[in-house]
Amino acid sequence: MDYMKDFFGEYTEQDLIDGMNAFAGGGVGTGKPLVIVDQKGASFKDMDGKEFIDCTSQAWSLGVGGCHPKVIAAVTEQIQHVTHVRSGFGTIPKYLLNKRLTDLAPGNLKKVGYSLHGSVANEGAMKIAIRNRPNRKYFLAPWLNYSGRTFATLALSYPHPNNQYLNYMENVVRFPHAYCYRCPFKLQHPSCNLHCAQFLRDMIEHSVDGEPIALIMEPIQGGGGMIDYPPEYYHEIRKICDEFDMLLIWDEIQTGFGRVGEMFASNVYGVVPDILTFGKAIGGGFPLAGNLQRPELDTFAPGDHGFTFAHFPVAMAAALMVLQIIEEENLLERSRVVGAYITKRLKEMQEKYEIIGDIRGPGLMIGIELVKDRETKEPAREEAARFIDEGIRRGVLFGESRYLDLGNCIKIKPPMVITDEEVEKVLEVFEEVIRVVSP
Ligand SMILES: Cc1ncc(COP(=O)(O)O)c(C=O)c1O
Repeated sequence: MDYMKDFFGEYTEQDLIDGMNAFAGGGVGTGKPLVIVDQKGASFKDMDGKEFIDCTSQAWSLGVGGCHPKVIAAVTEQIQHVTHVRSGFGTIPKYLLNKRLTDLAPGNLKKVGYSLHGSVANEGAMKIAIRNRPNRKYFLAPWLNYSGRTFATLALSYPHPNNQYLNYMENVVRFPHAYCYRCPFKLQHPSCNLHCAQFLRDMIEHSVDGEPIALIMEPIQGGGGMIDYPPEYYHEIRKICDEFDMLLIWDEIQTGFGRVGEMFASNVYGVVPDILTFGKAIGGGFPLAGNLQRPELDTFAPGDHGFTFAHFPVAMAAALMVLQIIEEENLLERSRVVGAYITKRLKEMQEKYEIIGDIRGPGLMIGIELVKDRETKEPAREEAARFIDEGIRRGVLFGESRYLDLGNCIKIKPPMVITDEEVEKVLEVFEEVIRVVSP
């Protein structure tokens, strides 16, 4: 904190309170926020010097941890040279990142574009889709999808308190998806034979007009409650897109860059979308997002998708370093190994505590649904809210699916650099808090 005083002079606690109260709102979170003053790896400290392990990665963005020394070194070097260019100009980090990302991209996604926010990347993907499927009207998105909070992406996202804005976007149709723990059709997988996929076909024929522009989905729904699908569902979705000649857009803004134990969810499920959007973890704590697409697709015309700060060289230098760190520190494997270990320990707890309804998700993208009753699966919402508070009290910040109408999913998605000792503490606190919130 003293570094701020060095630059800007003394400030009082009242200055901070005034500043806090001047915020217009609209961000994510409730109650009095934790004020983070120091980040290191998977941990951070608040103003009182209390340490927390961060199982949220600050909205998935700190995959390589907070203030990774190599990211800071790359950024510090970059800011001595170029901090900003308009998107029409070249920079070395931009060209190196273009090459690196398209080398790493799944399948034939060999063209890349940038923005600063995931929502804008998704709108970019929508624009590309519209260019390539002109004269069509509709986008499809699964129930409980989340793809951002700009006007267009709000419509792709699950209903939440900003519902009033949805009236302005009418061209998104939502479909029931393979949320097998709570099957929309009350069927059981695999005996259902993926009835939901066949239903989607019927919906496209009879409720949409037979010719949607594109289907947009998170391969694993984070905000919706860490919902991953049966492997064959992903292939079925790809087939349906091909049958109706619509584009498949995967929003990998959460799942990209190691979170699921591979560079992308596309590598886990063996399905390549036509457009893939990315963001969050790529910047190592700096803002960067974008989209990868097949080269045969018609891309943006000049002026279609240009934003003043979109080609932020500082974030691009950070991104190059993030990709290097993932490789040097073997973080894809770390994500797989630590994720499997945590999941195994949670499953052991599930045998003891009735409140743990379902545990799911690959790599370090783990969701735990709390239920009041395993038979009825009634969501344990109040218990989940209390779980978060009790975790914070014990020095672990767990994630939660707050806006989902179920509101009962606890998330464990720490930075991939989380240490073994931190993992043990997370599990110890998890079990202690489960005991506290269990009826
Ligand atoms: C899956 C997904 N898509 C899109 C977004 C929107 O990204 P941003 O908040 O950077 O606009 C988010 C952000 O939480 C997200 O989780």
